[in-house]
Amino acid sequence: MKLRQTKALTFDDVLLIPKRSPIRSRGDVATTTRLTNSIQLGIPIISANMDTVTEAGMAMAMARVGGIGIIHRFMTVERHARQIEQVKRSEGFVVEHPYAIDREATIAEAQKLMERHDIGGLVVTNGGDKLVGLVTQRDILLALDAQAPVSSVMTLPDKIVSATTETTLDEARAILHQHRLEKLPILAADGTLRGLITAQDVIKRQRYPQAAKDERGRLRVGAAIGVGGNEMKRAEAVLAAGADVLVLDIAHGHADHCIDMVQSLRRNFPQAQIVAGNVASADGARDLAEAGADAIKVGIGPGSICTTRIVTGFGVPQLTAVLDAITGLQQAGIDIPVISDGGIKTSGDMVKALAAGADSVMIGSLFAGCEEAPGSPVIRDGQKVKVVRGMASLGAAMGRKEAERGDDESAESQEDWDKVVPEGVEAVVPYRGHIREILYQMVGGLRSGLSYGGARTIRELQENAEFVEISPAGIRESNSHDVKRM
Ligand code: XMP
Repeated sequence: MKLRQTKALTFDDVLLIPKRSPIRSRGDVATTTRLTNSIQLGIPIISANMDTVTEAGMAMAMARVGGIGIIHRFMTVERHARQIEQVKRSEGFVVEHPYAIDREATIAEAQKLMERHDIGGLVVTNGGDKLVGLVTQRDILLALDAQAPVSSVMTLPDKIVSATTETTLDEARAILHQHRLEKLPILAADGTLRGLITAQDVIKRQRYPQAAKDERGRLRVGAAIGVGGNEMKRAEAVLAAGADVLVLDIAHGHADHCIDMVQSLRRNFPQAQIVAGNVASADGARDLAEAGADAIKVGIGPGSICTTRIVTGFGVPQLTAVLDAITGLQQAGIDIPVISDGGIKTSGDMVKALAAGADSVMIGSLFAGCEEAPGSPVIRDGQKVKVVRGMASLGAAMGRKEAERGDDESAESQEDWDKVVPEGVEAVVPYRGHIREILYQMVGGLRSGLSYGGARTIRELQENAEFVEISPAGIRESNSHDVKRM
């Protein structure tokens, strides 16, 4: 038995001492960071791979402002891959493989395809890669005969305005505007279809210049995976669908089976970016890094919906956990990023995590109330709220068992309930509107934090950081006090 005598600290235990600052305006600082050594982010914020936080909608919204979302893994492999595809297809400047339909298909079939993929138009082909027409919602909305072939309503090739593979974004915008078009097919010299540019995508690209994008201009997105069973297949499918990063997410990541999984992933997918966790010690971070991880996720029990520390007695207050993980990596001579996962309640907590050396933070509950998080708001005691649940909560565990069993055997037995030992809770959080509004506040807080830290970048913040431990009276003083909040 060992007893470490130094006190372990978390965000509320400390403050940062303000430093002489060369920063004149909050605009003079950079919020960019690295998710891994080969993936840059515009802001150091990741939405958590929880089933009440990140699916495709949240991931798109996160990437548009420069962060990234990690789509949770509690769904079938097929659905997971589709979710990744949905993000990847959402706004590349060029859709490389646009959804296509045969000219003999019916208008009803075209309508169904557009609805299924939530798109406004389809390219019409001859079954191969020759463009023979274009059909949009506008062409079919008022059609009287839904069984008529698509060829009867489509725009014919001689009327289609097209671009070439050399067309630039600015040229595409000019052509779309000049002809008041929504879709611009890209054709090779021999008429072969090479892709599609849509007005919506051009508009989004202008609106979100900060977006986190891959080398093909598509939004970045990550996929969570577990160990064992189907998970190698899941990794293969989500990577094929375009996932930029795999997040191997195990409650106790410093475990032989997790280390083995990192090694297997590294062997099977040498090019893949792999984040592994969660750990809360120097040894844990080092072991996962040496197994081949590209970033380490740190956090055992700091999350707002976590009860791991209460149920098992294990965990490390988050600021110390981050510092320890970084020490472990430094001692091993490994320079890879650390993600601080869980317990972020405010932008100030995020600034502290980054100042302690984390390259980014992962956030769950704070985002669960957003419009973009899965699920609809409900009214509780007259207030609009959304549900958040720990992935090791009773509800989440039962949901997973049900999914494994299949829909037709949905009734869970008393035995199932008895077997679950939850390490998380289910809760409600206030409905918070759109994620971009929360991110605006979070990033604003970070910009101010950099300024107080005399830092132009997150790296400089870390170099300058000097923490001071505070007393309960200090914590009380930090919040608004002795006034009645409006
Ligand atoms: P926040 O505080 O942002 O934390 O809501 C999100 C992180 O919490 C972790 N997580 C859990 N931890 N039991 C736990 O001990 C759970 O049921 C659970 N569910 C999520 C996870 O790391 C997440 O990113």
